[in-house]
Amino acid sequence: MFAVMQNLKFDPSNLLAKNIGRYGVVETDLAQYATLLENGHKVLLEARENGEKRIASMMEWLNLPYQREEVIDEIQNVAKSFRKFKNIVSIGIGGSYLGNRMLQDGLRSPYYNEFESLRNGCPRIFFNGKSLDPVSLNALLNNLDPKETGIVVISKSGGTTEPKVSFEILKWWLERRCGRDYWKHIIAVTDERQGILREWVKGMGKPIPTFPVPDGVGGRFSVLSPVGLITAAMANINIKELLAGAAAMEKMTQNLNLKDNPAYLYALLHTVLYQKRGINIAVMMPFADQLETFADWYVQLLAESLGKKYNKQGLVINTGRTPIPSVGPSDLHSTQQNNIEGEYNKAITFIRVEKPAIDLTIPHESNDYLADKQMSVVGDASQRGTEFALLSEGRPNCTISLPELTPYTLGQLIFFFEIATAMEGELLGVNTYDQPGVEGYKKNMFGRLGKAGFVANTFCGSIAPV
Ligand code: PA5
Repeated sequence: MFAVMQNLKFDPSNLLAKNIGRYGVVETDLAQYATLLENGHKVLLEARENGEKRIASMMEWLNLPYQREEVIDEIQNVAKSFRKFKNIVSIGIGGSYLGNRMLQDGLRSPYYNEFESLRNGCPRIFFNGKSLDPVSLNALLNNLDPKETGIVVISKSGGTTEPKVSFEILKWWLERRCGRDYWKHIIAVTDERQGILREWVKGMGKPIPTFPVPDGVGGRFSVLSPVGLITAAMANINIKELLAGAAAMEKMTQNLNLKDNPAYLYALLHTVLYQKRGINIAVMMPFADQLETFADWYVQLLAESLGKKYNKQGLVINTGRTPIPSVGPSDLHSTQQNNIEGEYNKAITFIRVEKPAIDLTIPHESNDYLADKQMSVVGDASQRGTEFALLSEGRPNCTISLPELTPYTLGQLIFFFEIATAMEGELLGVNTYDQPGVEGYKKNMFGRLGKAGFVANTFCGSIAPV
């Protein structure tokens, strides 16, 4: 059904010492990681084969490309029924926001919300609940008509403060203008059984469309679950093609052999650079405006999954590469100076889209070296030029190319990085699926706000003796 040529390509050559010199990876480095790689592969293999284990170890994301047809149809039907609204406010934070935003930006046109002609009858989609900034929520309250607005509230736990605040205010706003039937404007995505949001849906006693965040799927791995699919379907994105792309990548990453598994290769090369060459910063730099928020999604995936104090044995290791979101060519005029001449501590990942959805020709009248050239040719030269400039300075970089930006190729790209991150976690020896470090601010915030059981400024860290 989908042409083979649609596959993503990963070019690792500029991570290798034979091309970039002393900061590159050599064969013997790889050999030293053979056992760790094999053990990591076993963990992924076992999770693929054993459903119970997969859920218990929070690796059910591996199965999301193969969700039942009825689940997907139901998402599409509910999404379609909500297209009657002119506006949708999607409420969520972290994994309940970043993936939705990435799909929206990646697979619908830039300026989608601004121009009706770009929406083909689909609603405008606004994102809120990712901050506690009254100014942005107030802008929505004052400029949207509640009668023409639907709300998708997404929270796995149901109790996360930022989206909860936004949902409480938007609910009140809807109820005031729409009366008792305000619930007809709401879709909830949350844990199947528990949490404040699930309780609210039950308590309402109304047929509020509700989708589960599947058991064993953590927030940052949830984009291919109902969490990310519901708003994508509202914007008429082909979610079946998205999942088909992810499934294709799932199949491409089953093999332990590095030659046949681009995601393992990506993980291993970057782990070697991190642990043996001190390359501890991961710059994600797509060369496509539509993928700018893909970089933000990846930042959460890498930072929350691998930035860990303890390894699986409970030893303090304080590990994990630091991700930096970037976008080309825009950032060539800001961060590139540092990428090229700053510390030797960064690896840059470029994402290229070989054939943009549309191209424009620079007028002949411009009468200089740009005349008659396609914009994509100039963009390509800019990306290739950046790659070469980094190479000339011995700076590690690699390129992932998508033949086109479609639901199918984006599905591949998402799954590629999920597998790569899972493997990188195994190579580092950490629990990829928890995020204990996020709790500290919550405890302090709850104490300050007077939540029962919490005290302000509770000390929750551990300062090592001087
Ligand atoms: O990856 C994670 O689990 C987190 O980043 C969550 O997505 C984020 O904290 C939001 O949580 P929730 O969906 O429970 O509101």
